[in-house]
Amino acid sequence: MCGIVGILGRQDVALQLLDALKRLEYRGYDSAGIATLDQGVFARKRAEGKLRNLEAALGEAPIRGSIGIGHTRWATHGAPTVLNAHPHVAGRVAVVHNGIIENFLELREEIVAAGGTLLSDTDTEVVAHLLDAERARGARPKEAVAAVLPRLRGAFALAILFEGEEDLLIGARKGSPLAVGHGDGEMYLGSDAIALSPFTDRITYLEEGDWVVLTRSGLQVFDAANAAVLRPVSKSSVTAALVEKGNYRHFMAKEIHEQPEVIGHTLSRYIDLGKRTTEIQGIESVDFQSLGRIVISACGTAYYAGLVAKYWFEKYARLPVEIDIASEFRYRETPMSDRDFALFISQSGETADTLASLRYSKAQGALIGAVVNVPESTIAREADVVFPTIAGPEIGVASTKAFTCQLTVLVTLALHAGLARRHLSAEAHADLVGALSAAPNLALRALQAEPAIEGLAQALSKAPNALYLGRGTNFPLALEGALKLKELSYIHAEGYAAGELKHGPIALIDETMPVFVIAPHDAIFEKTVSNMQEVAARGGRIVLITDEAGADNPATAGMEKIVLPDMHELVAPIIFALPVQMLAYHTAVFMGTDVDQPRNLAKSVTVE
Ligand code: AGP
Repeated sequence: MCGIVGILGRQDVALQLLDALKRLEYRGYDSAGIATLDQGVFARKRAEGKLRNLEAALGEAPIRGSIGIGHTRWATHGAPTVLNAHPHVAGRVAVVHNGIIENFLELREEIVAAGGTLLSDTDTEVVAHLLDAERARGARPKEAVAAVLPRLRGAFALAILFEGEEDLLIGARKGSPLAVGHGDGEMYLGSDAIALSPFTDRITYLEEGDWVVLTRSGLQVFDAANAAVLRPVSKSSVTAALVEKGNYRHFMAKEIHEQPEVIGHTLSRYIDLGKRTTEIQGIESVDFQSLGRIVISACGTAYYAGLVAKYWFEKYARLPVEIDIASEFRYRETPMSDRDFALFISQSGETADTLASLRYSKAQGALIGAVVNVPESTIAREADVVFPTIAGPEIGVASTKAFTCQLTVLVTLALHAGLARRHLSAEAHADLVGALSAAPNLALRALQAEPAIEGLAQALSKAPNALYLGRGTNFPLALEGALKLKELSYIHAEGYAAGELKHGPIALIDETMPVFVIAPHDAIFEKTVSNMQEVAARGGRIVLITDEAGADNPATAGMEKIVLPDMHELVAPIIFALPVQMLAYHTAVFMGTDVDQPRNLAKSVTVE
């Protein structure tokens, strides 16, 4: 939800902190700030709103110091004001924080009772006060941290500075990710490797409960029991170039257009094109023949990918699938056993609800699988088997390439399960893998619909509401299309199963309500056509997203259409995601909303 960074540098660090925060802004952007130690004394600058406001403030009044911390915020406690912006300072301690301190109210009371004065409404400020109180009692910084961390309940990634300590930066993680960067005579802390990519690709990922003491010459890592531990240094795959917009206007536009390439990268990790079979690393740990069912849990767009996968596992592997959104699943107390394969889908691998659902399922004895885009993420690290999407860093808050890569991974798992359970013959399996291998090229051709979509988007940008309809695997796409429009353009939109229209939503239909129908010419196309006729009969404005066969069908004559190439039904959910992404993108552009950082959102929801 927020981004934090810390730098132990050899020269003034304010601009480096700002550079790192720019790479973290996708995690939250309602206020930002930095603090440095300038000759042993804190210098701090904070600003409301986007990072550019902080940059302007620093331009007017630069701050010095070769050690510092920084923060870009998605408000959880306290309005997005300067007073609530991080870093928070109490006495001789400065702190930045990502997460939620759940027992902060009782800690606030303790601090006030002891005569302390809190200046903000945030939970984070209590951490600075507790640390400063330990220091006032004579504790050294490391001792102060070891004493305070166990008192904090909830989730936190922290970076901490101590006045007078010019060669000391302490970090801690519990429930929120934190990475250490190794420089040449410099050390770094960051919420993820993306933040540190301009400085280093040598990264140590802290484990759950770890805390770390950094000096310019190295680090000491301690676990939750304060025992010294060793954590490996790995080479980050994120390069600064990967997280640039290139010649695109927005990250989202770049990521939409990267899909043919990254779907291809992902496919190459999961199928052997020559042998026309699935080749999935780690899949041997899943005994699909003895499995009772698959349980899928995720949030938002990742959940819609799981919904599509439900159709695939049940159709191609005859494997029952239980699926639920993670924020519900984590509290449902679903009975589970070791005959369950629990699959968690997450671009960031840090979504709190999804992580909690994983931990519940693990405690129930289920085998845990994770489909993630960040292999070093917490969800990946806690899973028994990981199926990475090869989408590359996804910076736009609205998920696009991660979604189609999730679908690409999931469909190969379903095909593998079908073969393993002998529901698919080797020949049928090979034919389906062959159909799947056309996905990258089909995605490339789908992008050619962009000019037509841009024209439609201008009209859509004036609609107060919109409806998306689909049947079968197009129903989750209808949900995804509605979510994309909502989160990017702030237009209210709903996704519905096309067959449900007559059970109520048809009452919404009038000439002001655009209805987007996602319907490739598949086995249920005719059924969806009758739904469209029901809409047309009531003056509704239909936009049909179909393929060439659907466009040529006489029943669709005269309808507004977005036409994609003909394709095998297996790959349709992957390819038909692109037009709904482009529709939402161009609508948002016409409306002038902040496409890469829509209001109220954050890229990774690491709090409940
Ligand atoms: C998608 O466009 C949204 N930004 C959001 O629904 C997202 O998919 C959801 O928060 C899950 O995130 P994750 O994939 O990182 O777990």
